[in-house]
Formats: sequence, structure tokens, C-alpha cells
Amino acid sequence: MPFRDDFVWGVAASAYQIEGAATTDGRGPSIWDTFCQQPGAVWNGQSGDTACDHYHRYRDDVGLIKQIGARAYRLSVSWPRVMPQGRGAVNQKGLDFYSRLVDALLAAEITPYATLFHWDSPQALYDAGGWLNRESAAWFADYTAVVVDRLSDRVSNWMTMNEPQVFIKYGHGDGINAPGLKLPLAQQLLAGHHALLAHGLAVQVLRARSKQPARVGFAPVCVVKYPSAPRDIDAARAATVGVTQPDLWNNSWWNDPVLKGKYPADGLALYGAAVPATQKGDLATIHQPLDFLGLNIYEGQPVHAGPGGVAVATPRPVGHPLTAFRWPVEPESLYWGPRFMHERYGLPIYITENGLSNIDWVSLDGKVHDPQRIDFTQRYLRALRRASEDGVDVRGYFHWSLMDNFEWAAGYKERFGLIHVDFETQKRTLKDSAHWYRGVIESNGGTV
Ligand code: FCB
Repeated sequence: MPFRDDFVWGVAASAYQIEGAATTDGRGPSIWDTFCQQPGAVWNGQSGDTACDHYHRYRDDVGLIKQIGARAYRLSVSWPRVMPQGRGAVNQKGLDFYSRLVDALLAAEITPYATLFHWDSPQALYDAGGWLNRESAAWFADYTAVVVDRLSDRVSNWMTMNEPQVFIKYGHGDGINAPGLKLPLAQQLLAGHHALLAHGLAVQVLRARSKQPARVGFAPVCVVKYPSAPRDIDAARAATVGVTQPDLWNNSWWNDPVLKGKYPADGLALYGAAVPATQKGDLATIHQPLDFLGLNIYEGQPVHAGPGGVAVATPRPVGHPLTAFRWPVEPESLYWGPRFMHERYGLPIYITENGLSNIDWVSLDGKVHDPQRIDFTQRYLRALRRASEDGVDVRGYFHWSLMDNFEWAAGYKERFGLIHVDFETQKRTLKDSAHWYRGVIESNGGTV
């Protein structure tokens, strides 16, 4: 089938990237507030202090989501806004914000998909060891309980965490994201193990405390290797599900514990002595039944079968299209990523992020013309439709992003939005792509 009748067309954003109001109503500092103060950490010394001021403008922003015609909105809850110290005292004003936001979404007939953790760890918990401290899993479970108790009468779709690969590797290994650590592999793996434990405990909390049946997933990066030709499919699949390089940039180290209850054998062998000592019962805790698998997919790497059938990167042609961020344009990733993940795990799939940064500005005619975003999204959605036609159980697509925002270490340099934001005036302008996306949604993908 093409896109299912109940296909979920959405847009996505995250708390630190849009909310601003960094010290308003009792919000505590996060590791990103701290990181942004480090000279050279973020492009032009920028921060999320104000960002899109969504904290104050959320009503208008919900109106814009409605104008785009999106039926669902993937938001994240800021842990330090809800619990300024990360544990202990709850900040009711912070919770109230999400409660008002959810009410506004529901009044506009937009279904909230809430992510509990999109990288903005409370600074106080980092000071207590952060993800390197095994207690972090329990801290996250306690925070989850607070959010679920308040919102689950109205929110039923949840993701525990966003892209563990990235917040562990870039944050704890490469030092390019908060908290800016450059730890050896063994410690990255330890932090990762605790994050996975946190995921498992949070799922248990969601199931136990939700006021209505919860639909729970998580949103890892999907690292896609796709075949250059049909004869390369097996090699591409093996490379996509394999742990083949001694870093955390893969799928199975993260997804297998969550969805199969064990770390992959090739990863255990490759990481060797760096593999963390786990405690009895850890993997059972991590391995909670999930309702869906979220995948964040922006690009992929074409490969072909080399000697012994092992995947070898196929060089891209000279002049291959690149986004403003200089990420390669790779629509096939939205076919093969979902396909390989569905084959391996069998769960319904949502594309929880996909999009591009583009060089957008407001033209003399007052509009924002972004034909590249339209063409990019059309190509990727065609690939996703093909996946659905070929039997992959794809349930939804969330475009990253609702609006231009704070793109982590790249600051405001990269514009990912369907909506242009003038960060001086906070004026929002729907880009041409936003109007185009509305047509896609109205036709249930018929116009792609
Ligand atoms: C993903 C992040 C998201 C956004 C996009 C461009 O890795 O999850 O917050 O920054 O990249």
C-alpha cells in the first residue's frame, strides 16, 4: 500500500532548541547552558537562552503547526525545567508549561508525541556524575514518573530518548556536543549502558503509571548503508545491522539490547575489553516491549559488495548534492533504513526526524523560497512510500523541523525549519515548503 490511511504526518522540534526562557519560572541549568558558555564550543558563541522564545509564543506556534496542517507534533520535555536539580524538587511552573502546550495542541487537533529526553541533562546531575553514574537510570525513572503523572491523561505517545548514539558519542567521546567530554571508548560504553538502563526503567514507569494505555518507543539515529545495486543488498544489510568499527556510530549496539535483550555478538567481540561490566538483570530491564521504533534519518552511505561480500563504501560522484550543512542528499536512506530495521525488529516504524538545513532568507516579496527543501523532502518521501509499498510497516513521518532553531554546536547557522524565524524579531514566516507540505498532508502523500 502507499501511505496508510491513518499515516501520521507530523513536525518535530526539541525543548532546548526552541524554548528559550532559560532562567524563567524556575528552570534549572542544563549541560547545554554550561556548554554554550565555553569559548569556541558553539558557532559564534551562541546559545539557546532565547532561541525561538517558544516558551512564551507556544500558542502562536501551535497555530502555525495547524496552518501547516500537521496532525502530530513531536516535542521534548526539558528535564531541568521540570526538575531544576534533576531530582528531588519538582518545578510546578515548568510542568504547567507542558500541560498548557498539550492542551493547546489537543484543542487544535494535533496529537502530541512527547520525547522525555532530547539531550538537555540537568547540570546538577552532570555534576553528580551524569550518565557515567549508574544512578542516572533511577534519576531518569523518577523524572519520567513526574512527567507521566502530569501529562499522561492527555498524552499517549511517548519516546524515552533521542539519539543515544549522538548524545553519548558526540557529548562524551568527541567533545563536540555538551557536556564536551572526550572519554575513552570504555567510558562512552558505560555511559551508554546507563542510558539504556534509563530507557528500560522509563518504559516500566510509563506502563505502570500512564493514565491511558501508553504507546512507547524511542528515537535512535538510523545509520544507513544502502546498496548501490541489487546485488549489493546483502552486503548493505550486513553493514547496516553490523557493528563494524570501534566507535558508537551504529544501530545494533543500541537497538539490540532494547529490542532483543542482548548486546550484539559482533559488537561485544569488537569492543572487547571496553565492554562495560553489566549487572544481573540489566538486559532484562533494558528489554521492555515497545510499540514502535522511531528512526531519525538524514542521510545514508551507498555501499557495494567487496571481497568476501563485505560492504565497501561506494564513492559518491563528483558534485553530488549537499545540503547547507554539507550533508549528502541521500533519499534512498529513507527506503533502506526503515526496511532493514523492520526486517530485524518487526516493529511499526515512525520516521521521527528527517529534513535538511538550507540557505533560506526572506525574499524581497516577503516570502521564503526554499525549492531545495521541497525537492529533498519529495525525494525522501517517495523512497519512504516505496518502503511502505514493499511491506515495511511505516506509520508516520515527522519533518525536522517545525521552525528554524538552535542547531546545537552550529548555533543559528543552520536553518532546518519549515518556518523561517527571524531571531532578532521572532517573526515567523512559513516557507514555500510549509505550504507544499500542507498539500502533501492533505493528499496523504498523494502529491509526492
Ligand atoms: C538530530 C537531532 C536534532 C537536530 C537534527 C538536525 O541529530 O536529533 O535535534 O539537531 O539532528
